[in-house]
Amino acid sequence: MKAIKIGVLTIAAFILINNQYSVASVQPGVPNIKASIARGKELYLLQCLACHQIDGGGVPHLNAPLDGSANVKGKDKAMLIKIVLNGLKGAEIEGESYSNVMASHKDLTDQQIADILTYVRNAWSNKASQVTVAEVKAVRAKLK
Ligand code: HEC
Repeated sequence: MKAIKIGVLTIAAFILINNQYSVASVQPGVPNIKASIARGKELYLLQCLACHQIDGGGVPHLNAPLDGSANVKGKDKAMLIKIVLNGLKGAEIEGESYSNVMASHKDLTDQQIADILTYVRNAWSNKASQVTVAEVKAVRAKLK
């Protein structure tokens, strides 16, 4: 009887410690990429969907695709941040030109831009490192 009680207590303690461990493993100060992607997806649906489409495929000759784009997946995150802040027009992207104009989105916060770009870099077939608030802040400061 006593052995069973101790066994049950051990299991209970194990579950408790394990749960605490999983909560503690989200390190403070280190941006959580999964949470950023989830917030970014919500923002994408509001801010970018109309032109870049649900599948990130854009619209031929009108709006550039974000899925599979070497720029979107690339190392030059500052360039992507600049495009969102300033908008873009008349640029040739991978040999294609687009007749629509991408408006500036500088009213979005640094956090919102970091989340949207982290989402588009990890949506559809894309897989790339996250964009941080500090990176957006640095680019915004330079553009002023
Ligand atoms: C009004 C339509 C429109 C909206 C809204 C829009 N874009 Fe764009 N976007 C474009 C067009 C058009 C281009 C290509 C412009 C060019 O070729 O000069 C583009 C280009 C881009 C590029 C460059 C792609 C590459 O491969 O180099 C990125 C990144 C981008 N958009 C991200 C976004 C994000 C993120 C949002 C939402 C915050 C957004 N866009 C909202 C129309 C739009």
